[in-house]
Amino acid sequence: MKLDRALGLMREVPDFPLPGVVFRDLTPVLADPDALRAVVDALQDKIDDSTQVIAAIESRGFLLGAALGYGWRYGVVPLRKPGKLPVVADSQSYDLEYGTASLELPADAIQPGQRVVVVDDVLATGGTAEAACALVERAGGIVTGVSVVLEIAALGGRTRLAGRDVQALLSV
Ligand code: PRP
Ligand code: HPA
Repeated sequence: MKLDRALGLMREVPDFPLPGVVFRDLTPVLADPDALRAVVDALQDKIDDSTQVIAAIESRGFLLGAALGYGWRYGVVPLRKPGKLPVVADSQSYDLEYGTASLELPADAIQPGQRVVVVDDVLATGGTAEAACALVERAGGIVTGVSVVLEIAALGGRTRLAGRDVQALLSV
């Protein structure tokens, strides 16, 4: 399937999770086997060759990250919402488009000097990805880039991640 057809399966859900927010929902893209493959292949095409590890952001980043890790032999490190990991190395809080949250890095997951790409479905304000990069770098990892399916440009995530190699398959 062509990438533009795959991305065309995305749907916009008004007033989710709060009134006034238009939520871009990638669920139909992930649910279609050809669309999922097209999106994962396209993400891989933009990942720096030196990359060894995927830092996958909970929760939809896990799906993309695991597919990339299996397909192209990266290790996958889940960056999780609080209270999910049995052994936590580090934690970073951040502001969201709708609220605040934090991410945790599992212990012994990233080795100093490892080259790590951060993967998620959507870049909005960039708070989540910025927190992910901070966790990777405090562990001694080198962030090779931030790869997402969709960038919501008006929310300024790319500016917040200035200086990083931000790759988005689609910008709206
Ligand atoms: C969404 C999305 C990104 C983040 C982007 O996740 O999957 O992780 O928000 O927003 P930001 O760029 O403004 O930080 P969400 O927090 O809704 O969690 P979920 O994937 O577990 O539903
Ligand atoms: N879709 C998915 N995740 C998000 C969005 C969105 O529209 N906005 C912030 N995180």
